[in-house]
Amino acid sequence: MNSPKSIAIVGKGGTGKTAITTLLAKILSEEYDFKLLLIDADPTHPHLSTMVELIPKKSLEDIRLEIIKESMQQAKEFVEIAENIDFKLYNAIEESKGFSLLSIGNPVSEGCFCPANSLLRNVIESISKDFEIVLIDCEAGLEQINRKVLRNVDTILIISDISVRSLETAQSIKKMAQKFTHYKKLGVILNKVRGNIDKLLIHMKELDLPLLGKVPEDRLIMEFDLQGKPLIHLTDDSKALRSIRNIIQKLIKI
Ligand SMILES: Nc1ncnc2c1ncn2[C@@H]1O[C@H](COP(=O)(O)OP(=O)(O)OP(=O)(O)O)[C@@H](O)[C@H]1O
Ligand SMILES: [Mg+2]
Repeated sequence: MNSPKSIAIVGKGGTGKTAITTLLAKILSEEYDFKLLLIDADPTHPHLSTMVELIPKKSLEDIRLEIIKESMQQAKEFVEIAENIDFKLYNAIEESKGFSLLSIGNPVSEGCFCPANSLLRNVIESISKDFEIVLIDCEAGLEQINRKVLRNVDTILIISDISVRSLETAQSIKKMAQKFTHYKKLGVILNKVRGNIDKLLIHMKELDLPLLGKVPEDRLIMEFDLQGKPLIHLTDDSKALRSIRNIIQKLIKI
């Protein structure tokens, strides 16, 4: 198999990271035979599980707090706690027919996601070994790259909408990814594309951002949004879904 193993979906807030992760998951699970894990790594807007309609009973944060509680109360020997960590983590993975899902959850201590992010970094590196493809729907911006949470992912997909500001965030992400990760492939997906974007494509070249694919603004996604329907049920007449199918073919060739 020549497909990317771990794919981090990053980008400016609101560009469509969660929507695109969902559509990638839909096609990879329905049309391919990979053992697929989704990680909802966004502690502030954890919407991936609702979008794919798979809600885990426990989050990584729940597990982290359980471990802290057990060690504080000295209810168990430290060695025993350490031995059980993997088991606990596996309990946080929710399985469905086509894929499994793990959610970082909402850290209790406001403002600081450092402990949750360090656990996430280790989990990405250990649990990912048991899956063929791991899709990570990341927090908006650069934090998780700068904190080296994504240091060992092999593919970075930067989602940008058709605004210059979003492309500039994409450029900062690329620079930081070169510094703080060991990615093998990085590409930009332009999302919610409408009208003439020639100028924007020229600007992308100036910023040295490689274009992996374009996803059109999709009326069906907007309708699903209005009705609060999970995007995993998007139907085949969706233009966005067709574009994602082409992007996957490119990704798998890499
Ligand atoms: N191709 C598209 N066509 C139309 N609407 C879209 C498209 N992609 C995403 N959207 C809509 O854009 C909004 C933002 O999408 P989404 O929540 O996936 O962004 P995000 O990058 O994950 O945001 P956040 O940074 O808050 O996590 C949603 O309402 C979503 O339905
Ligand atoms: Mg999101």
